[in-house]
Amino acid sequence: MSDGIVFLLNGETERVAGEPPTRTLLDWLRERKRLTGTKEGCNEGDCGACTVMVTGRDGVARALNACILFLPQLHGKAVRTVEGITGPSGEMHPVQQAMVEHHGSQCGFCTPGIVASLAVAQMNGERDFDRVLAGNLCRCTGYAPILRAAEAAAGAPVPEWMREDRAKLEALEAPPLAIAPRSVDELAVAYGNNPEAQLIGGATDVGLWVTKRLQDLENVVFLADVAELKEIRVRSDFIRVGAMVRVNALRELMAEHHPQLAAMLARYGSEQVRNAGTIGGNIANGSPIGDGPPALIALGAELILRMKNKRRRVALEDFFIDYGRQDLRAGEFVEWILIPRQPDRLRCYKISKRFDQDISALLGCFNIVVEDGRVASARIAFGGMAAIPKRARAVEAALVGRDWSEETIRSAKAAFAEDFSPISDMRASADYRLAAAQNLLMRYYLEDRGAAVNVLEVTP
Ligand SMILES: Cc1cc2nc3c(=O)[nH]c(=O)nc-3n(C[C@H](O)[C@H](O)[C@H](O)COP(=O)(O)OP(=O)(O)OC[C@H]3O[C@@H](n4cnc5c(N)ncnc54)[C@H](O)[C@@H]3O)c2cc1C
Ligand code: FES
Ligand code: FES
Repeated sequence: MSDGIVFLLNGETERVAGEPPTRTLLDWLRERKRLTGTKEGCNEGDCGACTVMVTGRDGVARALNACILFLPQLHGKAVRTVEGITGPSGEMHPVQQAMVEHHGSQCGFCTPGIVASLAVAQMNGERDFDRVLAGNLCRCTGYAPILRAAEAAAGAPVPEWMREDRAKLEALEAPPLAIAPRSVDELAVAYGNNPEAQLIGGATDVGLWVTKRLQDLENVVFLADVAELKEIRVRSDFIRVGAMVRVNALRELMAEHHPQLAAMLARYGSEQVRNAGTIGGNIANGSPIGDGPPALIALGAELILRMKNKRRRVALEDFFIDYGRQDLRAGEFVEWILIPRQPDRLRCYKISKRFDQDISALLGCFNIVVEDGRVASARIAFGGMAAIPKRARAVEAALVGRDWSEETIRSAKAAFAEDFSPISDMRASADYRLAAAQNLLMRYYLEDRGAAVNVLEVTP
């Protein structure tokens, strides 16, 4: 049981006791609190019907999916459901008012989630509503009226009751939870002494083990409160990213250093998933189709792995051994990711059936340095082409030292078959994957030569 969890719910202090540590916020809201405005659609982070606003100790409000959010992850934070986005005397929030005026709702099932996403956007002054709403599925209204409502509400003042959480959070006493260490040293001891425990980062994977595989996880350690793991340090030679840095925070960081990586991360899941999922979890889960690892391998990233008071440094490409097997020992965890500083030559191409909120069929990341018309170095990595995120060493060898020309690219294409024997599955056939990977190399070349290759830039 996870006792002692304290957070603000719609402005009031809640103390939770006697709940399993993997009780989801959604179940708790609907079953215990009878706050049934927040809906259950998919129960796996895909539809956004369960979206709530969560304000962290940093004072920033974020949209999160309550269906894959465990109660201990809320300790010391403030939650607003659609009931608390409405004012204390039943006043409508400007977003709700605009949804009414612009006919943004029909059956209404998606509406509480859309209102929560838009209330967060309104609070934070966000105007990119395509991005903000990519994780909110509406099956009947159509998005045009919803987007009109979003635009109409954006300029309205943020209501007073929505501003109160920040001040109340400062006064909220939330003593440390036994299952949620506050420092990385505490974590190292807790996990080192209890290596059977299930580590939980943002729970965008683990959440589904509970809601879909119906696993009972009792022995858990939450990383949500380890402050050092959320740090980003930009140094002269490398950028040090803590394992608990959220995908959205990494996206913002990369906008400055490697803008194409930032653009790719904007297509990672949805706003809700990027606000919860962490780069450490994305690496540690060892998925062959995770979007973070190929880009980081192409940048030459390394990991700092920590077990008790010992640290070791591993090249990210060597961390992935085989399907489901990572170079991670019992009691060891990912502490930092080190990304070497370098001139930006990185391009990432995510191929998926939908533009937003979809897992990659394949993802190609290219980091090719050209000097005096010749390829001086090449780091190329793919997801979705093998059982692990993998470097394309034969392709790299076919490029390095050669002229940077279309002829070189064409002759290097054959090397893909040496590096990869992809499988066929519901996302793509093996032949498609191999042909697409080869074409992505050509795309990199053409883009480097100034051609418009982005689907958002190419016009008929
Ligand atoms: C709707 C939806 C859409 C998604 N879309 C994408 C997508 O587009 N691209 C993509 O790549 N992924 C996607 N994912 C997958 C998921 O978001 C990522 O894999 C995520 O980054 C995992 O991070 P987390 O912090 O949520 O991990 P968790 O679920 O908390 O943990 C995942 C695993 O990693 C381990 N772990 C976590 N942190 C550490 C650590 N520091 N050290 C050691 N082990 C650790 C956990 O023990 C667990 O085994 C999606 C998921 C959902 C639900
Ligand atoms: S119920 Fe679909 S995202 Fe939570
Ligand atoms: S109004 Fe019916 S799903 Fe959106």
